Order: sequence, then C-alpha cells, then structure tokens
Amino acid sequence: GLTSAAALARRPAITGAELRSAVPLPPPFQVPLPLPAVLKPVSTSGGVDRYEITQREAVAEILPGVRTPLWTYEGTFPGPAIESRRGRPVTVTHRNELPVPTVVHLHGGRTPAASDGYPTDLVLPGHWHGDAVGDVTSGAMGHDTGHGGGMHDPRAAVTRLTRDYTFPLDQRATLLWYHDHRMDFTAPAIWRGLAGLHLVRDDAEDALGLPAGPRELPLMIADRAFDADGGLAYPALDPTLRQRPGVREPYLAGVLGDVILVNGAPWPVHEVDAARYRLRLLNASNARHYELEAVADGGRRLDLVQIGSDQGLLAAPVTHRLLPMAPAERYDVVIDFSGVPIGGRVRIVNRLGSGRTRDVMAFRVARRAPDGSRVPGTLCADLPAWRRSDAVRVRDFSFRAGRTHAGHGWVIGGLPFDPARADVTARLGDVEVWRLIADVHHPVHLHLVGFQVLSRGGRPPLPHDAGLKDTIALRPGEAAEIITRFDGYRGRYLFHCHNAEHEDMGMMANLEII
Ligand code: C2O
Ligand code: CU
Repeated sequence: GLTSAAALARRPAITGAELRSAVPLPPPFQVPLPLPAVLKPVSTSGGVDRYEITQREAVAEILPGVRTPLWTYEGTFPGPAIESRRGRPVTVTHRNELPVPTVVHLHGGRTPAASDGYPTDLVLPGHWHGDAVGDVTSGAMGHDTGHGGGMHDPRAAVTRLTRDYTFPLDQRATLLWYHDHRMDFTAPAIWRGLAGLHLVRDDAEDALGLPAGPRELPLMIADRAFDADGGLAYPALDPTLRQRPGVREPYLAGVLGDVILVNGAPWPVHEVDAARYRLRLLNASNARHYELEAVADGGRRLDLVQIGSDQGLLAAPVTHRLLPMAPAERYDVVIDFSGVPIGGRVRIVNRLGSGRTRDVMAFRVARRAPDGSRVPGTLCADLPAWRRSDAVRVRDFSFRAGRTHAGHGWVIGGLPFDPARADVTARLGDVEVWRLIADVHHPVHLHLVGFQVLSRGGRPPLPHDAGLKDTIALRPGEAAEIITRFDGYRGRYLFHCHNAEHEDMGMMANLEII
C-alpha cells in the first residue's frame, strides 16, 4: 500500500548540491543561441531514412575562450537533430568511438524492444576490451554503483561495436530526444554530452498553421558546471559515503550545475521578429527543475501558450504564466512577441533558480514583420481518452530513498533496479491505472507508452499535466494517478525516475509487455 502523502511530506526534503564552476562565466544574454544542425540521412531508399551517428570525443567552446572536452554524437553538444515524418521508419547506425560502452535510447519513441536501448544492450567501443572495466569506472566521471554497466552480467544482451537502431515512429508528431541509457552510468554520460533531439512531424500538425521555419525553435535546456581546466565538472561519487550508516552522499539528490545552457550555449540570446514563435522546450538537465516565465522589460509577463506536451499536441491550448519543467519533460509553447517594443528584450527566467541559475536565455525583438501563423482553438481531435472504468488493473508504486547494493540509493516499491527481475508484467492492449507516490521530487518516465494524468494529490491534474505525457513530475509527498494503454509492442521495457542520478542509483524497474 501507499504511505500517506502527509506522512511523507513531513520527511525532510533531500536537496541537491550545486557544483560551482571554477572558470570565469560570461555575462548573460551575450552568446547567440545555436540551433542544432539537422542530420542528413545517408540514404532514403526503400521507404526508410537511414542515418549514421559516430559517438566520439570532441572539444567544444561552450564558454567563450574555454575549451571543454565532451562525449558527443557526431562531435557536437547537443547532438545533431533528426527530423522524421510520422510512420516513416528510421534506422540509425551508431558507431561507438568513445572510451566506454554506450546505449542509445530514443526517449518518447514507440520503439520495438530490440531498439529501445535496454541498459545492458551495449554498443561496445571499437578499442575497448572487457578487462578495462576498472578504467571505465574509476575516472573522475566514473560512478560507483558497481555493475560495470552489466558487462559481467551473464544475462547481458548481445554487445557490438556498432548497432542499428530501428524506429518505426508510428506515433503522433512530437519532440523526442535520444540520450545514453547505460546501466548505472546514464547520468555522467548525458552530463558529458550524449543527448540530441529527434522531431517527429505529421500532416495533422502541418495543417494547423502554427509558427514554423525560423519561428520554430528547439530549445534544449541543461545545467552544467566547469572545472578549472575547462572540463565539465562531475563529482566522483563516493561509495564509502553511501555505505556508512546515517551519511548521505551529497550528490545522492542529483547533480546540479551553476551554468544554464540552451542548445549547448550559456544563457544565450536570440533575435526575433515581433511575431509568434513556437518554442519546443526540453529539460535535458540531469536533476534540475525549472519554473519558467517570460519577462519583458519593465517586468511584464508574457503568456506561455502551451500547445503540446511530451507526446504531442494538446486537445486545446493552455495558457501559463509560469511553466514548471522537470527533467525529461517537453513542452510545446507559443509565445507572441508582437506586443514587445522593437529593441525590447524578453528574458526567460527560472523562478526556481537563484543567482546565475535564475536566468535561462533572452529574446531580443529586432523588427516588425508580417505573421500569418495562428494557434487554433482545437489542436488535436483524436487524443486518446481512457477512463478509469477502462482499466483492468490498478498498481501502486512508491518512489523513495532506500537501500541498494551500493548503500544509500533510490528504490521503486522498496527495490533497486535489477535487470533480471520482472517488476511489472502487463498485457498488450490492457488499460491500467498506476498510483505513484514520491518522497521527494521524482520525474517518473515510462518507456513505449504515453499516459494521461488522472489526479494529483487527490485533486484534478494541474494545467500543465494536460495531454499525453511520458514523464510526470511527482512532487514531494505527492501521490498521483496516471492511466495508459500498453499498446505497440511486446517485450522488455522500463520505467524509472528521470532524475538521472536517481536512475543510476537504483530508481528503475522492468516493464514487461506480453
Ligand atoms: Cu529519457 Cu529511460 O529515458
Ligand atoms: Cu527520482
């Protein structure tokens, strides 16, 4: 059963420790906003778009004048964006030239299990040997949770130097993202740069007349911190701390940086027309939550008109002044700059930040320009609408601090992740209600399916819970109910907390669809 929300809320919250950069940081709103390059397919024959991505080390100038070594997809952070059409299959061949094994997961994709990036389905590096596990785990970016990414697990799936991931993309238009998902090592791998965007488009969305072309901006928001040598700072997690009774490792709560990057640039600025823009927001931070608002000169707040969520367009727009974003959540938002005087600035502010982490980015309104875009009152007419009475099963899951093989960690229903255990066995086609409860903030993500939020804290969902989600931000002490239908594919999937450190420290479980 579930512990009462009130009892959980009385527990002290575990707050994250923010890393401080050891290099000078640029003033905000100076660096131009980069837009991720769109990857070109190597072939489009046979009705399939084929892509190749090499995962390799690269050095980037993220902070002006500072050289930062990264782990990248194709040499850039974020990785190149992929643009696809609904229902047109995509194959991505990933070649691993990094010094560690990797796993690629397309977050939000309706993907057959073989291509879903199970945490032990490794792409081995070309020059890596199995006996080098110690080197892999002992570096400053290493992690202590000890499985060696499943390499010694006799159940580990086939490993290889390249891997073809096949994505049918038989799903509604939305913003997906691909990122590393190796067991126990996802957080440091994403932190080092292994994340990129994948947009799915469809005719229904194209017909709406939403802002497009240069007025549609993908915005991947992620915090980082920098060492004195320019490298990304990441704590060497200390296993001895996690073993000692009563001692909590400071980064158990998740790793936070003091620099806010948008598309890989610190506090960037983007010049816009006095017109509507469509912002495709992704919180790709490991652990940082945001509450975003758009503040014009003089303090006026602009409306953030939400048109979509993790899994695509809403039924109808929802207007926010303040938009909360947990790790891995996407929000599709239209902002109208037409009322801003030419030369004026609109800052995107993070109300949860303090000091430098309060600023995110800014827009400078440069010129008047015609605007033929619109935001229709009906965006999507065929969203699934599952009802409680459709559900054949109700399951309860608690997300809280607990013991793992490595000491203090995070557990679901009292258990840390074990690739050998079937935690949930669901039948293909069944509708289920899941009741989730959290001790502290846990953004809970289900692979394969989208879900609807039925309730939060015993009340109706919040305005930003609208639409089809794949990640729900559970708040401290809060119980929430979600409803979904397990359709698409049979096989072994996952659900987990998308605070990436929580995920690595045990907060993940198997979802077997039969
Ligand atoms: Cu964004 Cu299981 O991942
Ligand atoms: Cu969590």
